Amino acid sequence: VDRAWMDRASSPKYSLGHVHWIKSQTASEARRANFNTSEVERIREWVAAYFNPDTDLTVQRSQIYPGQRIKYERERPGRSPRIISQELYHLVPESPPLLGKHFRSCAVVGNSGILLGSRCGRQIDSADFVFRCNLPFIEGFENDVGTKSNFTTMNPSVLSHDYEIEGDTTNAALRETFLKRLRLIQDQVLHIPAFVSPKGYRNVEATNKMILQYHFPIKVSYAPWDTIQKMSALWNASGFHLNRPSTGSTLFAVAACLCDQIHLYGFYPFSEDRNGRKIKYHYYGHLKKRYLDSSHEMPEEYRAFQTLHQRKALCREEIKRD
Ligand code: CTP
Repeated sequence: VDRAWMDRASSPKYSLGHVHWIKSQTASEARRANFNTSEVERIREWVAAYFNPDTDLTVQRSQIYPGQRIKYERERPGRSPRIISQELYHLVPESPPLLGKHFRSCAVVGNSGILLGSRCGRQIDSADFVFRCNLPFIEGFENDVGTKSNFTTMNPSVLSHDYEIEGDTTNAALRETFLKRLRLIQDQVLHIPAFVSPKGYRNVEATNKMILQYHFPIKVSYAPWDTIQKMSALWNASGFHLNRPSTGSTLFAVAACLCDQIHLYGFYPFSEDRNGRKIKYHYYGHLKKRYLDSSHEMPEEYRAFQTLHQRKALCREEIKRD
């Protein structure tokens, strides 16, 4: 299994070429931090063969126009077409927000309840760049998850599930909570997979309107409709069979292109820890998501990250809970 991935990743066909990559860490620096630079570069080459953040991360202004019919990953035949609104057009970036960026250390924070009581906050905040998934709650969890966020994703369904906002129909208190959360993004990136299913259209529109109405300085990026396809191809070619890679594994792939040292936190898709303690699916919120409800192959993702960790291509932070 691993052999196929290694062969492919080291094949000259998959040269980096187009990816902005400055080799800034020395091998001894990396060794001290428990990373193996050749493994890190091999992973980068593997990912770069399928995904280039400069061109594949977001839809760009020059690629769309107001009134254009939206193409979704999951089209729903017979439904009236959704179109690019003025608000969406206005917020779509003119150039990708991470163009030419490179970071020494990155934290990719998943949402597992394993983070509760972990006191990882300070370590997460010490990374040069912090990725977070699905507009997670931060207030009240700072000791465990930190506060720094440079790139935060938000599935449109998060509005309904975590904030109980459905399009424009909303309860004032929850809308306030959502606005407060958006404000915390400041002038960093909010990344919305807006073109997965037309079901998310109203929530994307509602979010866009709030960002504009309150003049939030957020840099919004919108994943193109074929992102999941690209991510599945990438993982399947590695020998890890992820048909619907999760947000966390997608962020890992973005980080692999941009970061020398990737530290993963909160990636733990199991209901008990090693000592048999119950672990919530999310570290926050009231949502009683069941492990089996996930549409992703989470244990397989976990296995992939364990393998990469053993090779010192990333660091899956071991969490010692209180
Ligand atoms: N995650 C994990 N273990 C958990 C919960 C989350 O490993 N118990 C990781 C996954 O990589 C997940 C990410 O953290 O993608 C963010 O969690 P969540 O918001 O729950 O994402 P999902 O709802 O699982 O789904 P999606 O990936 O489609 O956003």
